[in-house]
Amino acid sequence: MTGDRERWDVRHATASATPPTAPDSFFLAALAVLEEAAPHTAVDLAAGRGRHALELARRGLVTEAWDVSPVALAALSDAAAASDLSVVTREVDLSSDPPESAQSFDLVVVVDFLDRDLLARLRHLVSPGGHALVTTFTTDRAGDHPSARWCLDPGELAAGLGGFERVMYTEHAGRAGLLARREGTP
Ligand SMILES: C[S@@+](CC[C@H](N)C(=O)[O-])C[C@H]1O[C@@H](n2cnc3c(N)ncnc32)[C@H](O)[C@@H]1O
Repeated sequence: MTGDRERWDVRHATASATPPTAPDSFFLAALAVLEEAAPHTAVDLAAGRGRHALELARRGLVTEAWDVSPVALAALSDAAAASDLSVVTREVDLSSDPPESAQSFDLVVVVDFLDRDLLARLRHLVSPGGHALVTTFTTDRAGDHPSARWCLDPGELAAGLGGFERVMYTEHAGRAGLLARREGTP
């Protein structure tokens, strides 16, 4: 989307210089459920400063982090280097350059980024039998940030993702989270 890079570069450049904050709680709960599936490769979409990508790398997954903001990706790379972790970063506008099937991962993570066209195309990035983990705000969240435009409708994510079967779902206190398995045999 035009302007996403500029807008987010400014936000990331003015964000605290302290390391990324703790991973989202649904993300951590979903990783516990995935222990048996033992994903080997992962991509964190709209990864920001890397709180989830870094956790995935820390757990031994071969991890990529994609984001529109080079400022965020530079902070992520610095944090990875400081912790002796390896995360491959890729600058991409996921809204104007949606994923194709050229590359696929055992686990695709999308936290606090809502682009419904991207969600509709997630299966192109997930290996057969692999998983998508999506969690973000819903419009019934208390407070006014982010604006409703960037929030799921209540119950919206419960409908699932095309080409996936639901593994785990929660919706509570203004957030929804879905862990879903792509159909097919690994
Ligand atoms: C609220 S932050 C969430 C970051 C991270 N997922 C997390 O949970 O900490 C949203 C992220 O989306 C990225 N972003 C915004 N528009 C984007 C786009 N069109 N393509 C790729 N990334 C985008 C921003 O740079 C930012 O890092």
